[in-house]
Amino acid sequence: MSDTTAPAMRRLCFEIFRFNPEDPNSKPHTQVFELDETPYMSLYMALSQIRETQDPGLQFDFACRSAICGSCAMMVNGRPALACRTLTADLPETVRLYPLPVFKLVGDLSVDTGIWFRQMAERTESWVHSQLPFDPQATEQRMEDDLAEAIYDADRCIECGSCVAACGMANINSEFLAAAGLNRVARFMLDPRDARSNADWFEVVSSEQGVFGCLGLMACEDVCPKELPLLEVYAYLRRHLLGAQLLRRAAGKTSS
Ligand code: SF4
Ligand code: FES
Repeated sequence: MSDTTAPAMRRLCFEIFRFNPEDPNSKPHTQVFELDETPYMSLYMALSQIRETQDPGLQFDFACRSAICGSCAMMVNGRPALACRTLTADLPETVRLYPLPVFKLVGDLSVDTGIWFRQMAERTESWVHSQLPFDPQATEQRMEDDLAEAIYDADRCIECGSCVAACGMANINSEFLAAAGLNRVARFMLDPRDARSNADWFEVVSSEQGVFGCLGLMACEDVCPKELPLLEVYAYLRRHLLGAQLLRRAAGKTSS
C-alpha cells in the first residue's frame, strides 16, 4: 500500500545563468538542467548534484552549508537567497538562478563579494578608533547588556551581499554603502570604545553615498537571511546624523 502522506517528488527544471568572463568565446546565456527532487533537498544539494552528474564546470560558491559563511547567495527566481538554506520544496518546479548583481562576476553563479566588502570596510574604517595607549594590564570594562546585545546583533551580518543585490540604489550607484555598509557603521557608532564623534561619522555617511542616498524601497530587510533590523539601522543613523548636522549649523551661527 502506498504512503499517501508523503509529498510527491517532482521533476525540477533549473534555468541557470552561464558565462565565463575570462573566456573570450563565452557568451552569457541560460542553460536548462533537469533533476528529480528528493525529500528535504536544498538548492545547494540540487546544484551539487547537477555539478556531479551533469556538468562539472558549473560554478557556484559555498563553504559552510549552514547559513554562516554567506558565500552561497544567488538570485533565486528574481530574489536574493542563500542556496544552502533554500529548500526546493518551497520553490516552483521551474527555478531560475542568476548570480547576484552589483558584485564582480567570477563565472556562472559565482561572484566576488570580497572586493565590495573590503572597499566598504576601508571607506567606513571598520575598526575601533581609540587614542588610548595599549595596556596589557588593563581590566575589562563592563558594557551594559542592552548595548552589548545591540552590537552583537549588528555583528551577526554574514556578508552574503543579499541586501546589496536587492537594493535599487546599490544597483545604479556603485559607491552607495547600502544596508550592509550602514549596518557596519552603526555597529561602530554604538560601540563606546570607538572615539569617533557624530561629526566624524557625518563625514563618512551623510552624503548620497551613505544614509541619505537610500530610496526607502525596504528590500534590504526583506531579503536579509539573518533577519537583521536594517530599517532600524537607517533610522538610528539618520537620527544621529541629523543631530550632528544641527550642532554643526548651530556652531557655525555662533562663530559667525
Ligand atoms: Fe547579508 Fe543581512 Fe549582512 Fe546584508 S545585512 S550582507 S543581507 S547578512
Ligand atoms: Fe555558507 Fe550557504 S554555504 S551560507
